[in-house]
Amino acid sequence: MTTDGVGSDRPHPDMSKARLALGDGGPLVVLTGAGMSAESGVPTFRDAQTGLWARHDPAALATPQAWDRDRDSVWAWYRWREHLVGSAEPNAGHLAIARAARDRSVAVVTQNVDDLHERAGSTGVHHLHGSLFAHRCDGCGTPMEVGPAPTAPVERLVPPGCPGCGGRARPGVVWFGEMLPRQPWDAAVAAISAASAVLVVGTSGLVHPAASLPGIAVDLGIPVVEVNPGPSGLAHGVTVHLRDTAAAVLPALLAA
Ligand code: OAD
Repeated sequence: MTTDGVGSDRPHPDMSKARLALGDGGPLVVLTGAGMSAESGVPTFRDAQTGLWARHDPAALATPQAWDRDRDSVWAWYRWREHLVGSAEPNAGHLAIARAARDRSVAVVTQNVDDLHERAGSTGVHHLHGSLFAHRCDGCGTPMEVGPAPTAPVERLVPPGCPGCGGRARPGVVWFGEMLPRQPWDAAVAAISAASAVLVVGTSGLVHPAASLPGIAVDLGIPVVEVNPGPSGLAHGVTVHLRDTAAAVLPALLAA
């Protein structure tokens, strides 16, 4: 612990400013991206992929075109990611966000398709890009149970057939070029509009429309604090940018 209350060895001159910007009573919105789960061992989108997937570009696999072209490879990739995420644990950052909800209203809006916020104890998480664990038919959209994910990587897997329409199970995530589901988007905009502060963690701010959410807060004059060890993912208007990782700063930043 430093005198600034930071739960790591590194001093943070901006920690007090960031805590002040977040306040301690009003409704808080936490917007998270892939960097949030990096310290749980889930690679970010712009990290090099490891192992079997070193040769695959996630941006090329996460499209309806890839599904039409090579469904079995895409299904195998997503099922393997389910296994990896299922083996990961929430990190100190996820836990700090869940804990903060004991003292104030906290809405979590995430671009992540993992379930680490929920497993840390956050409730009512808004998943803008869907979930790895919610499968549905690619024909009629009916939710489908697909059994446990394989525990070793495979190159190809045939997705189960839909008993209703003969379509195939697909991952319940949003692919590039697809619309975001309406409900979490509307909930995110409503939560930001009613927030007293917004905390943005671990997103490159490159993928729209999610990347436009912090700008809504800025336009409304709501303080925005960003946690990202890299360059700011936000175009403008960030009140404080803490250049460190989620697990390193969130426990002190969100401590009551
Ligand atoms: P990216 O992988 O684009 O960016 C990750 C961000 O996290 C970068 O700005 C890093 O600097 C930061 N970062 C890395 N490690 C961190 C850590 N330990 N703590 C905090 N921050 C850290 O991830 P997203 O912005 O979430 O979309 O990507 C947005 C979307 O692009 C994803 O939801 C996905 C992807 O393609 C779809 O699948 C539709």
